[in-house]
Amino acid sequence: MNEDMKNSTVDMILEKSHQDKSQPSVREVVVITGGGSGMGLSAAKYMPKNKLIILSGRTMSKLEKAVSELEALGYQALAHTCDTSSRRSVHELAAFAALQGRITNVINAAGLSPSMADPETLLRVNALGTMYINQEFAKVMHSGSVILDVSSNSAYALPGFVEKLARRSYAVAQKSEDKFMKKMLRFSALPRKEYARRGFAYALSKNFVCWYASVSAFELGEKGIRVLSLSPGLISTDMGHLEEKEGEKMLRESAEHRMGTPEELGFCIAMAADERNGYLTGVDILADGGAIRHGQLRPLIA
Ligand SMILES: NC(=O)c1ccc[n+]([C@@H]2O[C@H](COP(=O)([O-])OP(=O)(O)OC[C@H]3O[C@@H](n4cnc5c(N)ncnc54)[C@H](OP(=O)(O)O)[C@@H]3O)[C@@H](O)[C@H]2O)c1
Repeated sequence: MNEDMKNSTVDMILEKSHQDKSQPSVREVVVITGGGSGMGLSAAKYMPKNKLIILSGRTMSKLEKAVSELEALGYQALAHTCDTSSRRSVHELAAFAALQGRITNVINAAGLSPSMADPETLLRVNALGTMYINQEFAKVMHSGSVILDVSSNSAYALPGFVEKLARRSYAVAQKSEDKFMKKMLRFSALPRKEYARRGFAYALSKNFVCWYASVSAFELGEKGIRVLSLSPGLISTDMGHLEEKEGEKMLRESAEHRMGTPEELGFCIAMAADERNGYLTGVDILADGGAIRHGQLRPLIA
């Protein structure tokens, strides 16, 4: 199928979903990006079993394995590939999900960490990917639904002056992605060492996630859609283990003195994205075992 035909098929599906708004579908749908592993998959296991769970990510084999795991636990689940750094791919995922029923919860857990990618890829997946998810899903979601974007406690680790300057540039992302990327890559080039540059880009991308989730909450509040972000600390997923060495000092100084588990975070994410939490929107939930709070309190308790 060529790109034009693909686009028009997706748009026809979206049109159908808009027309059906007055007739609520029986089936409630949960979409989890990054749902093939780690915290995304763990969050799925705390979702109500009467909802259809759509797990998404780039690797079909991983998603199929995760779907089998959920089915063995009594869930109805489907796998659908999507690269969140492509708006077209996110648009297709949203159309596919809307066709399955009424989307009630979107958990955007897709992401890459400093050991996994260069600054540009980190920013495209984590920051622009979040913007695509919130924008494309908002088109097919209804009142009473929720979007939860997974950020990181690294979002709190930027030097104050960089955060202040960067936040002034975030709104550019909605007008010109190229200009946004150029600005963010300039900030990311500040550290001298390669890993630190990736760390900086990661922190910027996750700081953007918190900012954008909060902006989306105010834009989509009109439609009755809640949007929030959740920032984990170092968690013992495959990704967390890759960053474990760099995070050692943070763990030592946290209140818990350990990595979090995917189950603890899965529960926290599912709870925040539960419809009964209807008054929780526009904020970031910092679930990092007290690591960032320790840094903020250090001058007071030393
Ligand atoms: N673990 C930690 O210590 C930690 C700490 C703070 C924040 N976080 C954040 O928490 C989220 C979940 O991470 P995790 O620890 O559970 O790690 P994980 O198991 O590696 O999960 C990340 C998932 O994202 C998917 N993914 C990566 N790039 C993608 C893309 N472009 N499009 C769609 N899916 C993509 C991956 O699957 P594919 O490769 O198959 O696409 C993978 O299943 C991430 O956003 C991460 O940044 C993690």
